[in-house]
Amino acid sequence: MIVAPSFLTADLNHLESEIKSISYARWLHFDVMDGIFVPNKTYDYQMVSTIKNYSNQFFDCHLMVDNPMPDIYRYIKAGANLVTIHYEALGPATKVALQAIRDLKAQCGLSIKPATPIEAIVPFLGIVDLVLIMSVEPGKGGQKFMESALDKIAFLKQYREDNHLTFLIEVDGGINLSTAKQIAMAGADVAVAGSFIFNQHNREQAIRDLENADQN
Ligand code: DX5
Ligand code: ZN
Repeated sequence: MIVAPSFLTADLNHLESEIKSISYARWLHFDVMDGIFVPNKTYDYQMVSTIKNYSNQFFDCHLMVDNPMPDIYRYIKAGANLVTIHYEALGPATKVALQAIRDLKAQCGLSIKPATPIEAIVPFLGIVDLVLIMSVEPGKGGQKFMESALDKIAFLKQYREDNHLTFLIEVDGGINLSTAKQIAMAGADVAVAGSFIFNQHNREQAIRDLENADQN
């Protein structure tokens, strides 16, 4: 499984060393919050261009923002390889935003909160490169994994197979060794982890353990 460390819980005053401590990971997950769509506010697109100076990882930007349209251009221009928006932000107008991401030659992702049924995003599964299942209520790190995510992962895996699609299934929130194993068994391809990695002294080992969670 691919591991995408979220550095939401990192010490942003020592950003360069914090990012270097997770340089073993192939992906880097940016949790972008606007203080409107979710109560907290985190960093903005300048953070992406700053980190691009010393990371050649795959930049996975999770926009937990009320109006993603203006951010799509800014984040891709700053260096995002994948931009994920929330269905709850635009609803039926989601398709326009997903197409805008693709037109800017980035990969597009669509995320849903725990309370949103998976059926809501079926109309978009034919055009996304990735689906991000939130296994916590978006807004902060360190929360407990919600098992309701597992049914959504299984649904997506079956739907992808039945419809010969290739989108990735990513899961974000409360990921540790045991929940990583659960999501991998259910069909997840990418695991976002913040506190599990940042709370460990040996962060590279923590990432390796998550990567191999389905093998243990
Ligand atoms: C929620 C954030 C968190 C973060 C991961 O809005 O998206 O899920 O990425 O946090 P942990 O791994 O600490 O649950
Ligand atoms: Zn996230």
